[in-house]
Amino acid sequence: MGYVEDVKEAVNFVEKQIERTPKVAVVLGSGLGGIKDAVEVSSKVKYSDIPHFPNSTAPGHAGEMIFGKWNGVDVVLMNGRFHYYEGYSMKEITMPIRVFQLLGVKYLFLTNAAGGLNHSFEPGHPMIITDHINFMGDNPLVGKNVDEWGVRFPDMSHAYDPELIKLAEEAAKELTIEYYKGVYIAFSGPNFETPAELKMARYFGADAVGMSTVPEVIVANHGGLRVLGISSITDRAIPEGLEPLTGEEVIKIAEKTGKKIAMIFEKVIDKLER
Ligand code: HPA
Repeated sequence: MGYVEDVKEAVNFVEKQIERTPKVAVVLGSGLGGIKDAVEVSSKVKYSDIPHFPNSTAPGHAGEMIFGKWNGVDVVLMNGRFHYYEGYSMKEITMPIRVFQLLGVKYLFLTNAAGGLNHSFEPGHPMIITDHINFMGDNPLVGKNVDEWGVRFPDMSHAYDPELIKLAEEAAKELTIEYYKGVYIAFSGPNFETPAELKMARYFGADAVGMSTVPEVIVANHGGLRVLGISSITDRAIPEGLEPLTGEEVIKIAEKTGKKIAMIFEKVIDKLER
């Protein structure tokens, strides 16, 4: 069986487990699982039970979809995402996004832990993603286009929905949460970048660097979902005098930012048309 059939089987399985179609899907990044505490949970579906679904192996990532209500709005949380560096293909890591699209989800909110390339960025604050650079060397849309899912050459002029960016900014201001705005660049990982690579990324115009999100945003745009992305800036990715970094440090700082990102999402959800 091919990918299209696999996705459809996964959708059929998930549909049987839920009462209502979620309106918003939220992907929880490294160390950002705490966001789920804001949601009134109605059911959980383990990735390992979903036909053809990959399993999440990255540290700080559980492996389940959580369905429930957030501020009265039906949501689904991806508690644990898939990364390219885990050895999965681009199609595998974006399978959840296709499942959301076919379920009828309208909005995709993504989070991640990212290094701050911008000199003015301090760790511990959220960055609202305005645009991205795909530097992963691969693309989930490579291969025969599935016309019923989207067009061959999807537009990416507004990959991150301007209206949602505006709502997120308003929310952060109302909550007096210090935030940044900027461009996210994704490397494949799993190693953190060398100083030379970070310097290049900065010259390219990126403000934050990480190892996820971009494939999911490409598929969401192809499939017509409206995207909001927020990074947790966990460290300074400044090439001059770069400090050694560990995955544990990233997760520790991300955990502290999760609450702020959850508060911003909550306000944005409240402002979506019902
Ligand atoms: N580089 C890549 N990924 C990251 C970083 C980084 O500096 N920080 C958190 N995730």
